[in-house]
Amino acid sequence: MDAREEGVRACNKEAIKSCFDSEKGLLDRRIFVDQDLYDLEMKNIFARAWNFMCHESQIPEIGDYFINYIGEDQVIIVRDKSGEVQVLLNSCRHRGNALCRAEQGNAKSFVCSYHGWHFALDGELIGVPGMSPFYRKDFDKSQWGLVKAAQVDNFHGFYFATLDPDAPSLPDYLGDVGRTGLAMIASRGDVEVVDGIQKNTIDCNWKVAVDNLFDWYHVAYSHASAGEAGVLDLAAVTQANDQMVMLGEYGHAISGPAIKQEMQDEIVGMSDDERKQWNKEEAARSNGRVTRALRMKVAEEMMGPAGVRSIGHPNIFPNLWIATGGSQLCLRLPRGPQMTELWWFTVLPKDQTPEERRMTVRFNSHLFGPAGLLEQDDGENWSQSTRAARGVVGGSYPHNLTMALGHDEVKEDPSGQKWIETRINEHGQRWTYQAWTDWMAADSWADLKANHTPVPTGRV
Ligand code: FES
Ligand code: FE
Repeated sequence: MDAREEGVRACNKEAIKSCFDSEKGLLDRRIFVDQDLYDLEMKNIFARAWNFMCHESQIPEIGDYFINYIGEDQVIIVRDKSGEVQVLLNSCRHRGNALCRAEQGNAKSFVCSYHGWHFALDGELIGVPGMSPFYRKDFDKSQWGLVKAAQVDNFHGFYFATLDPDAPSLPDYLGDVGRTGLAMIASRGDVEVVDGIQKNTIDCNWKVAVDNLFDWYHVAYSHASAGEAGVLDLAAVTQANDQMVMLGEYGHAISGPAIKQEMQDEIVGMSDDERKQWNKEEAARSNGRVTRALRMKVAEEMMGPAGVRSIGHPNIFPNLWIATGGSQLCLRLPRGPQMTELWWFTVLPKDQTPEERRMTVRFNSHLFGPAGLLEQDDGENWSQSTRAARGVVGGSYPHNLTMALGHDEVKEDPSGQKWIETRINEHGQRWTYQAWTDWMAADSWADLKANHTPVPTGRV
C-alpha cells in the first residue's frame, strides 16, 4: 500500500481531495469499493445532506407512513395527529429494534415487537410494559422518545429531511439549480405518486449510478437495442450539439439536451391551451416512444429563463435523480460500497385521464426499474465498472473524465442563472466528484459552507 492509498484509507483530508484531480479530469476508482470511504460517506454526506423522503400524496391522512433511508439509517415518514409530517428513526430506544416493518401503511401508533415499548405518531414514548413491577417507577419516559430528523421541509409537496441541525434551510441547500431540477416535476401542476414504488438492487457503487445520469455519451451505444426496438428515439435524444449543463452549489447539477433559444421564444408566445394541444398531437405522432412535452407557463417562473430550456437530467446531491422528463424520481440508496438499491417513484398529474395514466406508467416501466430496457443495459455496465475497481492493479488506474474539459464557457443571465451551452460532455460528472471531495473533506456544515468549491464561472 503506497502512502497516498494509506491516507485515503485513513480518510485523511488531503488524501481524500487527491482522489479527484479536477484539472486533469482523473478520478481514483478506489472510491467505489473502499469500505472506510463508504463509512465516511454515511457520516459526511448522507447524515449531513437533505435527503428526499417522499411526496405528500403518499401520506395524505393522519397515521399514513412511508419507510425510507438516510444513509444506513432507516426512517419512518409519518403524518402525526396534528397533521404535521414527522421523520423518525425506525429504531426503538430500548434495544434498537426496528419498530415498523411494512414499507408503507397507516398506523395509530408504533409498538415494538421485542418488549412492547409503545410510541405515538410524533415519536413520544407513551407506554413501557412493567413500569411499576420491573422499573420500580424509576424511569422517565419523556427522555426516551424516538430520535427525530433535525430538520424536515418540503418543496411543493416533495418532503426532504436532514439529520444535521447545522444544515442550511432546504431552499438555501437546493439553490437555483436544485430548485430548477425539482421544478421539472413540481411545475407539472397538482401531482401524485402512483402507488407501488419499484425497488431493485444492482451490485454497483451508488456514485456510478449517479455519474451515469449525466452521461449522454453512452446512450447511442449502450441503448442501441432499445433504439432498434423502437422504445427510444435515439436520434432525438442524442444529438451531439444541443446540450446544456447547469452546475449548482453543494453538488447539484443538471445536464442533457436543451430546447434551442429560437424554439423557446416561440413556446413563450403560446398559451397553456395551445401547449396542451401541441403535446397531444406530439404524443399521437410518437406512437408510445419518448415524447417531448411542452411545459406550461408556470415552469418559466419556477425554472428561470435558462433552466426552462433544459430537458436534461437533474441530480439533487447526493442521490436523487429527476428522470423521464419529470414523470419519475429515482433514489440511489447505498447498501455498502458495492451495492445500490434503486427506488423508482412515478409522479403523475392528478388530472390525467386513465388512458394517459396507463400509457405513462407502461412507458416508464419499459424504460426503468427492474423490467426497464434501459436499466438492464446500464446495470450490467455499472456492475462491471464497480467490480473492476477491486483489482489490485486495475483499481490503481484512474477513471477518465476528460471530455470537454477546458472547452466550454459558463454563461450568465441577468437573473443570475448560470449555464453552459455545449455538446455531449462530462461537466456534470466532474462537478459531482468535485462536490464529493468537498463534502468528504469537510468536518462540519460550517466547514463545508466556508470551503466548498464555488459554482464555476468563465472557462470550464
Ligand atoms: Fe423495543 Fe425492547 S427493543 S421494546
Ligand atoms: Fe443508460
